[in-house]
Amino acid sequence: MAGTHGARIAVVGSLMMDLVVRVPRPPAIGESLIGRDFQTFTGGKGANQAVAAARLGAEQVAIIGRIGDDDFGRRIVRTLEEEGIDCRGIIRDRRHGTGVAIPIVYDDGRNSIISVPQANLALSAGDIRAMSALIAEAEMVLIQFEVGLDAVAAALAVAAEADVPVLLNAAPVVQHASHLLTQAAHLVLNEVEAAAFAPYAGGDHLAEARYLLGDGTDTVVVTLGEDGALLAQPNRMHVISPFVVEAVDTVGAGDAFCAAYAVGLTSGMGVVEAAQFAAAAGALAVTKQGAQTALPTRTAVEGVLRGTVT
Ligand code: RIB
Repeated sequence: MAGTHGARIAVVGSLMMDLVVRVPRPPAIGESLIGRDFQTFTGGKGANQAVAAARLGAEQVAIIGRIGDDDFGRRIVRTLEEEGIDCRGIIRDRRHGTGVAIPIVYDDGRNSIISVPQANLALSAGDIRAMSALIAEAEMVLIQFEVGLDAVAAALAVAAEADVPVLLNAAPVVQHASHLLTQAAHLVLNEVEAAAFAPYAGGDHLAEARYLLGDGTDTVVVTLGEDGALLAQPNRMHVISPFVVEAVDTVGAGDAFCAAYAVGLTSGMGVVEAAQFAAAAGALAVTKQGAQTALPTRTAVEGVLRGTVT
């Protein structure tokens, strides 16, 4: 399988084809804007996190999700299999197409993403129950919000029954999901998501992280892009310093962070060390184009840490 560090990881999440356009700036309403470049990459937050976990040395990675019965879906599965990922949990949906996302990447590497999840939203609680062994065999489960929320709730329930800790990446922002946030041991979200799920914190990231620490939550991490991250525990806050890199394309950086945090925790790191490992993985992920194409190996992340962490 994928390597010798970390543990068995299960991902419940999305599989998408990314249709990436590069533009100098966001278009205005009513404007036609000429883009500089167009490429397709395999993506989806779930698939990206699975690939990242495998490259970072997780012993075994399995993914549960839905694709359409189409060329995009077949290309995604082929890519995942080439990474050594267990694809038995991927269901071929005959009624919905494979999800697509349109990442819009600006000249400074930052991005906006429009996603149309299609088959991903058909992932159901029944699917999760049918695949529950993949969750129960794992040492950590990674979940995001790009699939049906019934499936997210079921995955949280199955993981709780099997006593498997969950890292919930509350991305993207979706309606009626707040109650799910407190059910994960580890919650990771970016500043846009933190502001949306903690609206009363007034944009103060420390206050957002504290607000989002639920009763059963061990850590909340708010990722801040080039400013690093904030890590909140019930009695402590930690500032995670950024690794300075030249950003080419930030798509997938959050996925690299989540996977690396999970791999770090399951390979015996403490939360701060795991978050630093994750910050290094996220930084490397922005230095190349594409989501999965840019996800770093463990060796590369360790190189960054050796060079910059004392
Ligand atoms: O997190 C990045 C991912 O979000 C992209 O690969 C795209 O598929 C969207 O789902």
